[in-house]
Amino acid sequence: MFNLVLFGPPGSGKGTQSENIVSNYKLQHISTGDLLRDEVSRHTPLGTEAKKYMDQGMLVPDEVVIGMISSKIDESADARGFIFDGFPRTRPQAEALDKLLEFKHTRIHLVLALDVPEAELVKRLVGRGETSGRSDDNEEVIAKRIKEYHSKTQPVASYYNAHGKLETVTGNHSIAETFKSLTKHINKYLLPVT
Ligand code: AP5
Ligand code: MG
Repeated sequence: MFNLVLFGPPGSGKGTQSENIVSNYKLQHISTGDLLRDEVSRHTPLGTEAKKYMDQGMLVPDEVVIGMISSKIDESADARGFIFDGFPRTRPQAEALDKLLEFKHTRIHLVLALDVPEAELVKRLVGRGETSGRSDDNEEVIAKRIKEYHSKTQPVASYYNAHGKLETVTGNHSIAETFKSLTKHINKYLLPVT
């Protein structure tokens, strides 16, 4: 099993690159943002609770997200590996993920962080907001999401760096070039399925 965390600020290309990685390496994609938006659209109690935070660009409480991840991992016990997109986003989430994976006799092998300048992030997200229908793709909420990233999520990079798992990749080039840079790191652990 090979488990990858795709890390980076809002708009850095985690979702876009996850699609490329999933189709080339056949990993199981787990995006907490997608899972939460699905709960919101189904009007579940979890979704109703999460929406209050998401609409304001704030992180959803750790216990809500961690519970959701645990059941998702269990659903795909026979996967080739997982790609975690947008999770973990706080140090307690990173520690909880380590415990969950340890319990399943596996671990996080690699964390790839996409580095993109802030002006480019805002430009991409405002652009996406014109078509996405996402309640958090407007300038005011985007600014809050980026602030929340700096205060709560960036420490997760130091956590993985201290464990020797963090690699940073420039995410400011084209989608294809960025994917190529990511594959150079992934190929050290796992080769693409042809
Ligand atoms: P989430 O859905 O995870 O959103 P996010 O982190 O804010 O990031 P995005 O999904 O907006 O960006 P991305 O990096 O995936 O970029 P993308 O590929 O789409 O979270 C939403 C909310 O849910 C959070 O605010 C929070 O409330 C909650 N939440 C989720 N997970 C949580 C957790 N673990 N804990 C607590 N709360 C949680 O690309 C963006 C745009 O750029 C696209 O239009 C794309 O086409 C374009 N693009 C991508 N790459 C390039 C490129 N190389 N060049 C030009 N354009 C590009
Ligand atoms: Mg995303």
